Amino acid sequence: DNLRPTIITIFGGSGDLANRKLVPALYNLYLDDQLPEKFAIIGLGRTEYTDEKFRNYLRKGLDEFSRRGKAKKEDWNAFKDKIHYLISDVFDDKSYQEIGQKIKSLEEEWEETAISVFYFAISPSLIEPVAKKLGSNNLCDDKSCSRIVVEKPFGNDLESAQYLNQLLTEIFSEEQIYRIDHYLGKEAVQNMLVFRFANILFEPVWNRNFIEHVQITASETVGVEDRGGFYDKAGALKDMIQNHVLQLLCFTAMEAPVHFNADEIRNRKVDVLRAIRQYEGKEVFKNSARGQYAKGWIKGEKAKGYREEVKVDPKSYTETFAAIRFFIDNWRWQNVPFYVRSGKRMPEKMSVITIQFRSVPHQMFPNTTSEHMIPNRIIISISPSTGIRIRFQAKKMGLDMRLKPAEFKFSYSGMYENDQPEAYENLLHDIMTGDATLFMRSDEVEEAWRVVMPFVRAWSDHPPGTFPNYTAGTWGPEEVEALIAEDGFHWITAP
Ligand code: BG6
Repeated sequence: DNLRPTIITIFGGSGDLANRKLVPALYNLYLDDQLPEKFAIIGLGRTEYTDEKFRNYLRKGLDEFSRRGKAKKEDWNAFKDKIHYLISDVFDDKSYQEIGQKIKSLEEEWEETAISVFYFAISPSLIEPVAKKLGSNNLCDDKSCSRIVVEKPFGNDLESAQYLNQLLTEIFSEEQIYRIDHYLGKEAVQNMLVFRFANILFEPVWNRNFIEHVQITASETVGVEDRGGFYDKAGALKDMIQNHVLQLLCFTAMEAPVHFNADEIRNRKVDVLRAIRQYEGKEVFKNSARGQYAKGWIKGEKAKGYREEVKVDPKSYTETFAAIRFFIDNWRWQNVPFYVRSGKRMPEKMSVITIQFRSVPHQMFPNTTSEHMIPNRIIISISPSTGIRIRFQAKKMGLDMRLKPAEFKFSYSGMYENDQPEAYENLLHDIMTGDATLFMRSDEVEEAWRVVMPFVRAWSDHPPGTFPNYTAGTWGPEEVEALIAEDGFHWITAP
């Protein structure tokens, strides 16, 4: 299946995702020689572009958003001919017939059948009509050659996700459906499998006997930007915890798969989600905290309050910060708290997993109180810096026997994300080669919804007392400190 001729048809071709992420990713794959020679992009949209105008529009996006910066003229000129545009209406059969004709004419020109990828870069409400029309217009009949890609949010709650899964699997086979969680495309997330399962040092201590607790932080400095319309109906729990944060938790907590293949890995992740303790009644509030930002300052710049953002209800009770204490009820993790938090308008942007180990059982060094005995810690940085740090105790140089913490550090070359393939490059490449390892299976999405539903329900039934409750540029509301302090720990904010 490797690099067969491929046509990527993008619904929402003139939208933000195509412009900021998809086309820059495909362009970078092209520069890295990772696209098939016979390759085309068909952009679809209502905007009345010609091929040329569409290409110019994408070029601007590329210059602004590609990790490699401005495109070189020769490279772009060679790439742009692969891009086509069709003015289309997702509700009109005629548009689907035109897509079919376009695909056919490219295949005739290439004298080969192509893998057809249909990318849904459209609002969630359009998934259903587009899927149905793709089916009724027979565009995905050849199950081995056609694929669809669905972006998050996948549903808005457990029920709607189940409905969507059922609808899609009536039209497509599960193997044809690629549900995206772009965190899985990040190098550092994939590296977690290697770190844990290609080394012997860590796995023996990766359990409740040695690990005291785990923290997962996914914080951002940005606010809701221009996505108020979507975000105000979602909030941090649905936008970040249900997907990205739970995925990080799964990679941290999963058992070792037998083989490196899509279903094995997804089975092990589903096991984790199934084992997460479900809270009821007051426990939901006892184990969580939520917040919404008020105006403040971030890195010397003024930031508006959430309720003042564009397309946000001025009386909104949507949370822009969420924190939860999870427990995983299985042999490996019994009673090890997993504290997760995610929020907008925090002091730093970082996605980080911290594994906090227990203290040594006996302290034998002179002049050393428990304050000096700093337990081991592994910090896995996902973004923007990518790497792993392991903290351990060392002897302080000198005649006395004194201790001080030291660190082993691993970082990907260049350390920063821009030097590595972007998440979307990894994911698009996998879609083209038919590797579903980094995509969400239907049961996985539903289990993740099951995990967050008690919070979704309780939070909407009981609006918070006071919102906004944290200043932009801080680490969230006060309760979030209490959530972890009551267990004797504190949040670790090192990126
Ligand atoms: C998206 C969320 O899925 O992830 C956004 O919808 C968020 O609200 C983004 O900003 C964060 O992704 P990253 O890769 O910048 O951590």
